[in-house]
Amino acid sequence: MTLLTIPTQPIDGQKPGTSGLRKKTPVFMQHHYLENFVQAIFDATGGAAGKSYVVGGDGRYFNDRAVQVILRMAAANGAAKVIVGANGILSTPAASHLIRKYQTDGGIILSASHNPGGPNEDFGIKFNTPNGGPAPEQVTEAIFAATGRLTEYRIIEVQDIDIATLGPQMLGDMHVSVVDPVSDYADLMETLFDFNAIRAMIGRGFRLRFDAMCAVTGPYAREILENRLGAAAGSVVNATPLPDFGGMHPDPNPTWAADLMDKLWAEDGPDFGAASDGDGDRNMIVGRRTYVSPSDSLAVIAANAHLAPGYAGGLAGVARSMPTSTAVDRVAAERGMECFETPTGWKFFGNLMDAGRVTLCGEESFGTGSSHVREKDGVWAVLMWLNILAATGKSVADLLAEHWARYGRTYYSRHDFEALDADAAAAMIEDLRARLPGLPGTTASGLTVAAADDFAYTDPVDGSVSAGQGIRLTFEGGARAVMRLSGTGTSGATLRLYLEHHADGPDGLTLDAQEALAPVIRAAHDIAGIAEKVGRTTPDVVT
Ligand code: G1P
Ligand code: ZN
Repeated sequence: MTLLTIPTQPIDGQKPGTSGLRKKTPVFMQHHYLENFVQAIFDATGGAAGKSYVVGGDGRYFNDRAVQVILRMAAANGAAKVIVGANGILSTPAASHLIRKYQTDGGIILSASHNPGGPNEDFGIKFNTPNGGPAPEQVTEAIFAATGRLTEYRIIEVQDIDIATLGPQMLGDMHVSVVDPVSDYADLMETLFDFNAIRAMIGRGFRLRFDAMCAVTGPYAREILENRLGAAAGSVVNATPLPDFGGMHPDPNPTWAADLMDKLWAEDGPDFGAASDGDGDRNMIVGRRTYVSPSDSLAVIAANAHLAPGYAGGLAGVARSMPTSTAVDRVAAERGMECFETPTGWKFFGNLMDAGRVTLCGEESFGTGSSHVREKDGVWAVLMWLNILAATGKSVADLLAEHWARYGRTYYSRHDFEALDADAAAAMIEDLRARLPGLPGTTASGLTVAAADDFAYTDPVDGSVSAGQGIRLTFEGGARAVMRLSGTGTSGATLRLYLEHHADGPDGLTLDAQEALAPVIRAAHDIAGIAEKVGRTTPDVVT
């Protein structure tokens, strides 16, 4: 075993986005690309000497090679211990849990989340801090700065490490512990939810279907839903994680999980459907012929979480990302809970959870989670819903209808315009930003702008400020449109247009969302000039 110090030079563009560094797989496989970034993580966080880490990923193409490199670099940089999921696999929430449970100095997670995987698709890497959460902006900026100063990286030369066999081993002076990726996580879930009640509901004939989309949650869902909760064998489909996700786009939404939607709309469909994404932090919840939008899911959970044993004492507070609908705000107001509005990205919830200000967090992008870990958590959201259904004996459709009847319905949709020319998209946002002060009082497609701003967030815990987090247009009557550019893409630009309109009820609660939102959609297009500026009139993906 030889310790090597390899000369290198900075590589442009290693700047983490909304959730870590994401690039096309061939970019990551370039000479020194991964190594540089890993060395920058260590350099920017005070070095690895004497430290312990969790390492794992969603199993996508190159995951296995990257884990070997990270282990060898951690050893060369003097790390004391690395806990690694068997075969290099850990879902993102499971990795977050291990960091917390074993109180490591952080973790390195390999994933490009819901982006497709494969030799020509996407790869990603991110650093999580000792609280188990994604590194906050100050840390990702320090890592990016370190990528620009690199002159060398350290690695040991050694045969591949056996990460298929569970148990401890040594890599030079470093302890490596290969752990079952599922068991700790499944045990944690048993402490939060009423498994007996869910098992009894399933025993009474309740049928469910979980689509793991050939990504990381298959083994987790099988163990929990089929083995521990007694769902029929085969309830978890696409359950084997594959390096290319079987060619699927592992993003749990009605477009990419269309097969699940079909099954839930079928004559003899199951009572409950769910899907998760590449790395297991996202979720989609579907009832019989009932789609639950992520913003509604967050609100329903906020109203009912106390039915789960882990949350019986109530929630400390809730937080949602700014573009997420205000449905949860109404529950918080009714319950007298604090409700925070943060920028997009789970990293902004970390401080609030660490400070005990919030228990439940959510994003419109199919992300829901609680302070049990510091990541959003797909399987957790599924279990929360199952627990609520078991405790109330109601169907998904009834729960949703009752929720709307009580709080009103916040119609909501996100329109994504993908693969735009990056310069044109940036120019459109810049132009809109420049016009913001003049917009209030003006009218577009029959709606009058009440307020227009560029969202800036001051973290209530550490006072850090994050500006430029998305353009908000609020209209008289309460409708809202938000626009921002995606920070997770790997080619061109994606414009996200978020639309919302609240109906108090009791009438008008069962419209088609796109119909209910038609006026605000037109107004947003008018004001931003999407057709003229980026040449698009219809979105690529509607959720
Ligand atoms: C997207 C979502 C955001 C989520 C992130 C990571 O980021 O919109 O809510 O936190 O993925 O899963 P975006 O591409 O919009 O920057
Ligand atoms: Zn994800």
